[in-house]
Amino acid sequence: MRVEIVTPVLLLSTLLLLPSCFSLPLCTDSTSPITRNTTLAFCGYSGSTCCNATDDSAIQAQFSAMNITDLSCASTMKSILCAKCNPYSGELYTIDETPRTTPILCSNITDGFCATTWDTCKNVAIANNPFASTSTPTKLSDLYHSEADFCMSAGGPVTDQTVCLNGNSASFPPTIPASPEGICIEKLDNGTFLNMVPHPDGSNRVFLMTQAGKIFLAEVPNNGMGTLTYNASQPFLDLTDRVYVDYEFGLLGIAFHPNFTDNGRLFVSYNCDSKTTPNCLGQCSCNPDTGCDPLVIGIIDGAAPCQYQEVVAEYTVNGTSSSPVTATVANKNEVRRIFTMGLPYTTQHAGEIFFGPEDGYLYLMLGDGGNKTNGDPWNFAQKKKSLLGKSLRLDINHFPTPSEIVSLGLFGNYTIPSDNPFNNNSDARPEIWALGFRNPWKCNYDSERSSYLFCGESGQDRANTSTTFEEVNLVSKAGNYGWRVYDGFDLYNPTYTPGGSTPPSSINPIFPILGYYHYETHSNTGFAALVAGFVYRAKTDPCLFGRFIYADLYGFDMWTAAEIPYMSGNFTTETINFTCSKQSPIPCDFVNSTTIPKLSFVFSIDQDNNEDLFYLAQTGVYRIVRSVHCGYKCNLDPDNR
Ligand SMILES: *[C@@H]1O[C@H](CO)[C@@H](O)[C@H](O)[C@H]1NC(C)=O
Ligand SMILES: *[C@@H]1O[C@H](CO)[C@@H](O)[C@H](O)[C@H]1NC(C)=O
Ligand SMILES: *[C@@H]1O[C@H](CO)[C@@H](O)[C@H](O)[C@H]1NC(C)=O
Ligand SMILES: *[C@@H]1O[C@H](CO)[C@@H](O)[C@H](O)[C@H]1NC(C)=O
Ligand SMILES: *[C@@H]1O[C@H](CO)[C@@H](O)[C@H](O)[C@H]1NC(C)=O
Ligand SMILES: *[C@@H]1O[C@H](CO)[C@@H](O)[C@H](O)[C@H]1NC(C)=O
Ligand SMILES: *[C@@H]1O[C@H](CO)[C@@H](O)[C@H](O)[C@H]1NC(C)=O
Ligand SMILES: *[C@@H]1O[C@H](CO)[C@@H](O)[C@H](O)[C@H]1NC(C)=O
Ligand SMILES: *[C@@H]1O[C@H](CO)[C@@H](O)[C@H](O)[C@H]1NC(C)=O
Ligand SMILES: *[C@@H]1O[C@H](CO)[C@@H](O)[C@H](O)[C@H]1NC(C)=O
Ligand SMILES: *[C@@H]1O[C@H](CO)[C@@H](O)[C@H](O)[C@H]1NC(C)=O
Ligand SMILES: *[C@@H]1O[C@H](CO)[C@@H](O)[C@H](O)[C@H]1NC(C)=O
Repeated sequence: MRVEIVTPVLLLSTLLLLPSCFSLPLCTDSTSPITRNTTLAFCGYSGSTCCNATDDSAIQAQFSAMNITDLSCASTMKSILCAKCNPYSGELYTIDETPRTTPILCSNITDGFCATTWDTCKNVAIANNPFASTSTPTKLSDLYHSEADFCMSAGGPVTDQTVCLNGNSASFPPTIPASPEGICIEKLDNGTFLNMVPHPDGSNRVFLMTQAGKIFLAEVPNNGMGTLTYNASQPFLDLTDRVYVDYEFGLLGIAFHPNFTDNGRLFVSYNCDSKTTPNCLGQCSCNPDTGCDPLVIGIIDGAAPCQYQEVVAEYTVNGTSSSPVTATVANKNEVRRIFTMGLPYTTQHAGEIFFGPEDGYLYLMLGDGGNKTNGDPWNFAQKKKSLLGKSLRLDINHFPTPSEIVSLGLFGNYTIPSDNPFNNNSDARPEIWALGFRNPWKCNYDSERSSYLFCGESGQDRANTSTTFEEVNLVSKAGNYGWRVYDGFDLYNPTYTPGGSTPPSSINPIFPILGYYHYETHSNTGFAALVAGFVYRAKTDPCLFGRFIYADLYGFDMWTAAEIPYMSGNFTTETINFTCSKQSPIPCDFVNSTTIPKLSFVFSIDQDNNEDLFYLAQTGVYRIVRSVHCGYKCNLDPDNR
């Protein structure tokens, strides 16, 4: 595969702006380490170190007082005490800015240094044991029940991306676990949903929405404790009377205001039919500004241009309960119309909405607006005067006056964040955050790194499908993701271009970080479209931790991608086997006589407040569980080596 290593110049330059995790060496007292000409007599550190000869002698005295007779344990404990001399001791002795008395031990559990410590010292009585609060001889096994217990405490959670002690050296960050053997899923519901978002109160509740326009509030059971529970006859919100639903139309997104638990505000994104639904008419995206001729478009596609509209509307739970957190239904009346825009054709309009975790602004993803067979004929995705094929960033906390709406040509009740990249650029729409998208679905932040926004993007079908590339982009401010100059890494040559074309030399596209060509055939019956995907951050399956998980719409193939090195933007992908847990609360059906669970279409991969991942498929809702339930080995899971 040629998709593995992509580090285009633009991507690198954006990465340089990311908050750096690679900290400078620093000692526990926040001073810089000194460079020594000689080697420390006891701890052996030379060059850059946080100890002088006095510190070294003190550590030697401390070590002698521990009176460890077992040689292996003595050597381990010596490394731990000497971590004070490590040039990164400031990091090693701090977790989330809280100082610790022992260094963070690298804990990839099986063979990490934490495991070594446990294995060599668990049954050795140690006076003044640094892990105990008493000077009397104590064994680690007196203090902790198991290696996992010990490493949860001494190593911090397995999942921490922090500096840790790996024998005599600091390791930063911990290595990503070796290739997982498989993904184990369980079936939690028979329903078909398009999207799921966790309840903003952090509880075990999620909102599930159907493409047709219903939103349900469901409770997620603990692992092994049953199925999803929700009242199917009482939706949280039912928008079916205003949503137009068809193959690619429907209720497409839901997002809760970052302060929902105080203000009860929520937002939905859907399509409506202006011919049949009141209050379904915004500016048409096909207009002279965007170089699009509505008369030409009108005779194609069987629908008048802009008959179908993209809507973002605000709703509230106010008045349905004593507080937003306890609300189980929303008020059915729209509070405010945020955005309404007519769509040129009937496909590829994306429509996901979400709030930026740092900036609190509302992002709206818009596809190029369609014409499936001809690939963005009006070149909307590259035209900065069009909102199609863009990621928009809107301020929904400050509203424009009616005259501002007119003078700025806004599509509704929102204002423009002052640092939007094309704000005050008369050749571009100020709403735009990033451009060059075909049909982005879906976008998710890495919950540990808010500067990492992963967006899936399906490729353009054409006669020679071998050139159709299904991709994932790392999306950042002002980035141009290439469509329709490029589809994936390849130049795309459309045959029907009434709206003109953009010369490749005039743009600096950011290429995908990973993806696959349609034609690869190691799948059961082929590929359809990429469904992205999250960086796995749950504690449930430690072997998946830190990997980006994605799937194909057909549900026969799944992948994981590891970023090596961390923060490099260099992703290495692998296909991964998956099957259904033997303890699945609802037994899975399988594809013919295989072990592949019969998902049918996979519409979405989503996350709950535990950071567990779910596949929303045509046949139901599935959750990733511990791989031991499927017979896959995971040597980071203490019960499943
Ligand atoms: C190390 O050696 C250099 C010259 O060899 C000397 O200038 C310096 O002061 C020495 N540093 C220490 C900490 O002894
Ligand atoms: C050695 O370093 C410690 C701090 O780590 C400092 O308090 C002490 O004064 C130093 N001793 C000498 C002799 O430099
Ligand atoms: C060290 O351990 C040995 C045997 O385990 C014991 O005889 C000795 O008294 C201990 N010394 C100290 C200082 O605790
Ligand atoms: C775990 O840590 C050890 C060193 O303690 C290292 O040799 C090994 O490669 C690591 N294993 C994984 C899976 O990262
Ligand atoms: C799901 O469907 C299966 C049959 O396909 C049925 O046996 C089961 O009771 C259903 N479970 C739920 C929770 O609806
Ligand atoms: C909902 O209630 C909150 C808190 O009282 C208030 O700030 C907000 O304006 C209300 N929203 C609506 C739409 O009434
Ligand atoms: C702004 O919101 C109000 C209240 O929903 C609505 O009547 C009006 O049409 C909206 N303006 C636009 C341009 O959408
Ligand atoms: C949420 O509320 C806090 C405190 O009232 C405020 O500082 C913050 O700006 C609000 N966030 C957003 C995105 O409105
Ligand atoms: C796209 O354009 C062609 C004309 O070139 C037309 O035949 C087709 O129906 C249009 N619509 C779609 C959805 O492809
Ligand atoms: C990207 O990852 C691959 C596979 O791990 C590795 O061989 C390569 O050196 C990495 N490239 C860069 C630029 O780090
Ligand atoms: C998936 O499972 C098959 C059959 O057990 C095995 O041959 C193959 O190596 C596995 N693939 C991966 C990527 O682990
Ligand atoms: C499964 O069986 C059906 C007919 O029963 C067949 O059409 C289909 O191609 C088979 N699928 C696979 C993946 O083999």
